[in-house]
Amino acid sequence: MKIGRNEPCWCGSGKKYKMCHQKFDEKIEQLKSRGYKVPPRNIIKTEEQIEGMKKSAAINIAVLDHVTDCIKEGMTTEEIDQIVYEKTTAMGGIPATLNYQGFPKSVCTSINEQVCHGIPSEADILKEGDIVNVDCSTILNGYFSDSSRMFCIGEISEEKRRLVNITRECVKKGLEQVKPWGFLGDMGQAVHDYAYANGYTVVREIGGHGIGLEFHEEPWVGYNSEAGTEMVMAPGMTFTIEPMVNMGKAEIYVDDKNDWTVYTQDGKPSAQWEVMVLVTEDGYEILSY
Ligand code: MF3
Ligand code: CO
Repeated sequence: MKIGRNEPCWCGSGKKYKMCHQKFDEKIEQLKSRGYKVPPRNIIKTEEQIEGMKKSAAINIAVLDHVTDCIKEGMTTEEIDQIVYEKTTAMGGIPATLNYQGFPKSVCTSINEQVCHGIPSEADILKEGDIVNVDCSTILNGYFSDSSRMFCIGEISEEKRRLVNITRECVKKGLEQVKPWGFLGDMGQAVHDYAYANGYTVVREIGGHGIGLEFHEEPWVGYNSEAGTEMVMAPGMTFTIEPMVNMGKAEIYVDDKNDWTVYTQDGKPSAQWEVMVLVTEDGYEILSY
């Protein structure tokens, strides 16, 4: 396992180990020995993998941009699914949710009190006043990308608009904590605190995830964690920040008819924005939004 200082680095850069990840590995070893949770090497992306993920994300962003242009009152979520499938495949990608663990569609569409994993359907017609999350994920050449946005249909209530906006700001607050050698808990607590300071709650059971060579990789990314806890963030890590923020209580349940769609227990609205982020040498880079 030990690599010589003058041997090629494990990351595939072609550089000598001493000129590449040797310092990184020493830092990781030191943190590990002090009891911190550190990223395993297989989730640290190489330059080539990051390039692959960016190409995948370019499709994912274009698909969400296209949805942004098309989405309107009276449209069914089935139509959104078709738009996503057409655009993704036209650009050479594969929708990552399609047949993922039995998920039947190319996108998740979650309306109002639906928290996430809503299944597009002919029966769900977008109406004035709805807030809807459209969660897209793409596979290109084996590389995954994943991000989601909220859409407001026609005129919406002031309280729903505030929920949507604050949730977006929660992601921003989380992003500000993303930097090498910080902790995922720093990010989680920032999201949590901002949501609760605004009178909202954050879903505990479902979180973000590492991503890249798989749809869902280590680590699991929660938003009820404390600063200074959870996995250390290291350059080359890629994961999603995707808090589900509830207007009412944090409790949720899963639809027992389809085993997918998650709802708020109290029936109050929930919002979610998702970005896919890369930890860089001096901070972060948003790969998909
Ligand atoms: N994009 C969702 C996520 O963030 C997808 C969940 S898997 C699905 O993980 F099958 F439900 F779509
Ligand atoms: Co995700």
